[in-house]
Amino acid sequence: MAGFILIGGGTAGLAIAARLAPNFSVAVVEAGGVYETDNGNQSVVPYYALTMPLLSSDAATYLRQPLVDWSLVSVPQPGAGGRKIHYARGKTLGGSSALNTLAYLRGSKGTYDWWAELVGDESYRWDNVLPFFRKSCQFTPPDLEKRNAANATPYWDPDTCGVGGGPLQVSFANWVDPTIAWLAKALQGIGMPLGPTGLNAGLLNGLGDFVSSTIDPRHATRSSSAASYLREAIEETELMVYPHTQATKILFQDGKAMGVVVDTQGLEYTLNATKEVILSAGSIHSPQLLMISGIGPMSTLQSLGIPVIKDLPGVGQNLWEQLALNVQQGVNTSASTTFVSSPDPAVRQDILRQYLDDQAGPFSAAGGYSSFEKIPSSLRSNFSQSTIDKLADFPPDWPEIQYVPFGIPSGLVDPPTIGAFTATLLAPLSRGNVTITSPSVKEPPVIDLGWLSDPADGEVAVAALKRCREAWADPSTASIQVGPEIAPGVHAATDEQLLDYVRQTATTVWHASGTCKMGHSDGSDAMAVVDSQARVFGVQGLRVVDASVIPFAVPANPQGTVYMLAEKIADAILGA
Ligand SMILES: Cc1cc2nc3c(=O)[nH]c(=O)nc-3n(C[C@H](O)[C@H](O)[C@H](O)COP(=O)(O)OP(=O)(O)OC[C@H]3O[C@@H](n4cnc5c(N)ncnc54)[C@H](O)[C@@H]3O)c2cc1C
Ligand SMILES: *[C@@H]1O[C@H](CO)[C@@H](O)[C@H](O)[C@H]1NC(C)=O
Ligand SMILES: *[C@@H]1O[C@H](CO)[C@@H](O)[C@H](O)[C@H]1NC(C)=O
Ligand SMILES: *[C@@H]1O[C@H](CO)[C@@H](O)[C@H](O)[C@H]1NC(C)=O
Ligand SMILES: *[C@@H]1O[C@H](CO)[C@@H](O)[C@H](O)[C@H]1NC(C)=O
Ligand SMILES: *[C@@H]1O[C@H](CO)[C@@H](O)[C@H](O)[C@H]1NC(C)=O
Ligand SMILES: *[C@@H]1O[C@H](CO)[C@@H](O)[C@H](O)[C@H]1NC(C)=O
Repeated sequence: MAGFILIGGGTAGLAIAARLAPNFSVAVVEAGGVYETDNGNQSVVPYYALTMPLLSSDAATYLRQPLVDWSLVSVPQPGAGGRKIHYARGKTLGGSSALNTLAYLRGSKGTYDWWAELVGDESYRWDNVLPFFRKSCQFTPPDLEKRNAANATPYWDPDTCGVGGGPLQVSFANWVDPTIAWLAKALQGIGMPLGPTGLNAGLLNGLGDFVSSTIDPRHATRSSSAASYLREAIEETELMVYPHTQATKILFQDGKAMGVVVDTQGLEYTLNATKEVILSAGSIHSPQLLMISGIGPMSTLQSLGIPVIKDLPGVGQNLWEQLALNVQQGVNTSASTTFVSSPDPAVRQDILRQYLDDQAGPFSAAGGYSSFEKIPSSLRSNFSQSTIDKLADFPPDWPEIQYVPFGIPSGLVDPPTIGAFTATLLAPLSRGNVTITSPSVKEPPVIDLGWLSDPADGEVAVAALKRCREAWADPSTASIQVGPEIAPGVHAATDEQLLDYVRQTATTVWHASGTCKMGHSDGSDAMAVVDSQARVFGVQGLRVVDASVIPFAVPANPQGTVYMLAEKIADAILGA
């Protein structure tokens, strides 16, 4: 028995649990274990966070990490050459904050103002959510002595970032990948300069900078929700954690959530909640568990013989997914991996020493640089009227593309490194969904990403590839380029050829959101699942608090917003 039962000890789940624990009895049910021991350096050392996304996200070839990942795979994507996509989701205390690539960013001001409009609650406006962003994290300004690149000083804004805030550690890496430092100049060169306040002050569109990361600067280790919020709460409160325990069903009595059936490695039992059940299982598993528990589209529930507690057609719908593509070119600069996998043992020993003694060097860093823009008018003039109309619905400061440069060794002598500009679609118009084919939680949820099902996304993706080519044509990188374009390659010249390249190679950035979306409580939005305090419509005692309730995908990396949301809802509960 506990006051509050949190289902999912992930990014939002542990943040909210830690905030409630000083005042209430709180139990956290988490399907996974402890990543620091289960997966060691791979999960803790920032550099290794990057090795995963650089590998394939195709179902056939992705990097298996079953001790920390749910190993989910989408249905074949007709818009992407019929490929099935590995959809990584953290399965460990910390959830996806223990598996992600550590970039910490916030959306634009207009992002939160739009959220407020969509849910009819002014408390989501930028000015009103900013205190919760600040409360969640402790910012450490860049250590310019340890950063190795002269032209890689990031900007940051003390007013919006604040120092002396919450448990989550946010800092600027003590190392800059040499290839990224070069490619950043090109993104500035084609019209996205550094902004004076960095990327966490609500201004993104038309700007770029080195990103902050959820890295604890004291040891240059991953600051997940487990390493930050949970560690503090475990020491200071009576918070109970049930690891390796999967919630299999939420129980209701007279329309009120009373408890949760859980399974610890085959042992099934019930935990009763005297106050509330809070579902924080993430964008894929929260809709799954709601449906299994009788809340979701009536037709889905009935077809599986699940008794209907509440017909909510929006559960599992409105999956916002940001796909990514890139343009690759041979370069003669080094990349972080050049050092980490150097054939020279002295180099390898030196970078290990830098990491262990100085919290610096290639092992200490993940993430690098990002730039944001709406597709400029020169390329926009080619969009169809329907694409122009759909993009006009987004706020004026909402960027359509995020550009992220990176470099990896080619395995060849010449060129030694493959440089790439990745473009991520931040205003995607295709929607996917999550559904179930079994009343049992043991059967994985069915994920349809809906990639390129709206032709507008194809038009924007092709324009984004052309922008990446413009970046490669910027004079700032001419001196490091070796040979012709590697991918898509010089043969890909027409829009059709570029679109085909997008279909064959697009990858995910794992930012799924919106599958239990928040909406107006006046009944005007039939697809809304929770109200602006994250309470599930039509039942009592149940909230959903995680990326699934964000009504859209934030036009940047989402974890900062997930922590903000957890702080905001915890505050609402404590203030009630
Ligand atoms: C590979 C990868 C890279 C990413 N990179 C970045 C990045 O660089 N920057 C960024 O901002 N965002 C990034 N993201 C996205 C970001 O990490 C997520 O949006 C965010 O962490 C989601 O938080 P959440 O609370 O919604 O869900 P999660 O953190 O995923 O938490 C859900 C938790 O619920 C548990 N759970 C699920 N079902 C059950 C059940 N039935 N019973 C018990 N427990 C259950 C899971 O095991 C998990 O611990 C990345 C994500 C991935 C996967
Ligand atoms: C990984 O962990 C081991 C100890 O298990 C340590 O000796 C080694 O230096 C670590 N590697 C890195 C890159 O930190
Ligand atoms: C838990 O709740 C169920 C009803 O939902 C009840 O039957 C059971 O007795 C309760 N258990 C405890 C320990 O309170
Ligand atoms: C516009 O579209 C046409 C036809 O697809 C193409 O040939 C042309 O290159 C495009 N122009 C731009 C600026 O993208
Ligand atoms: C999910 O989306 C696909 C593609 O749009 C559609 O065919 C399918 O019916 C949807 N499934 C559900 C359960 O909504
Ligand atoms: C890369 O090649 C250019 C000539 O194309 C040369 O000027 C430059 O010094 C080279 N840089 C490195 C790091 O080898
Ligand atoms: C929560 O607990 C703290 C510390 O015990 C106390 O200061 C605070 O007033 C409590 N808040 C509520 C809402 O009970």
